[in-house]
Amino acid sequence: MAAAVLGVMGGSGVYDLPGLEDVREERIGSPWGEPSDALRIGRIGETKVVFLARHGRGHRLSPSGIDYRANIDALKRAGVTDLISLSACGSFRDELHPGLFVLVDQFVDRTHGRPSSFFGNGCVAHVSLAHPVGPGLQRRIAAAAEAEDIPVHRGGTYVCMEGPQFSTLAESRTYRGLGYDVIGMTNMPEAKLAREAEITYATIAMVTDYDCWHPGHDAVDVAAVVAVARANADKAARLVARIARDFPRDREACPAGSDRALDGAIMTAPQH
Ligand code: ADE
Repeated sequence: MAAAVLGVMGGSGVYDLPGLEDVREERIGSPWGEPSDALRIGRIGETKVVFLARHGRGHRLSPSGIDYRANIDALKRAGVTDLISLSACGSFRDELHPGLFVLVDQFVDRTHGRPSSFFGNGCVAHVSLAHPVGPGLQRRIAAAAEAEDIPVHRGGTYVCMEGPQFSTLAESRTYRGLGYDVIGMTNMPEAKLAREAEITYATIAMVTDYDCWHPGHDAVDVAAVVAVARANADKAARLVARIARDFPRDREACPAGSDRALDGAIMTAPQH
C-alpha cells in the first residue's frame, strides 16, 4: 500500500498554506513545461503535504497561461496521491452565497485550446471521468468541515470557462438555466489530468460572487473576488489543516477508480 501524500492546489487569494511545518521548497522540472511555482513540501501532523500556488505567488499566471500538465506532473513526482483544489468561483444559486464552500462533484469543460491530456498519438488512452471527484476524499473534507464548524454545501456542478473575461449576462443566464451551480476558470483540465495521473481529486469551490445573473447583486469584478477570497483564506487553511491531521497513513482505494484509472485505459498495443 502506498503512503498517502496530500496535495493542495491554492487558487485565487491562496498563495501559501499556513500551518505547514518543516517546509522546504523544491522546483520540480517537468518535460511537459514549467509548473506554476516551486512546490512547498512539508507536513501537517503526521501527513506529508505538498502545496502549489496555481497562479504562482503574486498571481502571475492567467487561467489560460497555467501549464496544468506540468503542475500535475510535478505533484505526481512529489508523490501526491490525493489532491485538494481550492478554487474561487461564482455562484448560480441564491443559496450558494459568497463565503460558502461548495464541495462540487461534477465538472463541465467549456475551455478551449488548453492541452488536456498526457496521452496522444503514439500512446492512446481513455480514462473514465464519469465521477471526476473522489467520493472518499470529499467525505473527508465534509467531515473536517463539520469538525471545524465550517458550513459547506455538498454536491454541485462546476462549469469551467476559458476566461480571462468574466461571462456575459446571456452566458451567465444560460449556465444557470442548464442547472450548473458554480463557475470558475481553472478546474479543467486540472481534474482530467489528475485522473490520468491516478491522483484522487476533490475541489473546495469557494464562492466569491454571484457572477452577473443576480438582479440583487452587482456584476462580478476582481475587487469582489479578491476581498471574499482573502476573507476566507484562514477558514480554508483551517479546513485543510484538519483534513491533513485526520488523513490516513496509507492511500485508500478510491470508489471512483482514481487510484487505478489507467488499468485497462490504454488502447495502444505495447511494442516489443
Ligand atoms: N472566479 C471567481 N468568480 C468567478 C466568476 N464569476 N466567473 C468565473 N470565474 C470566477
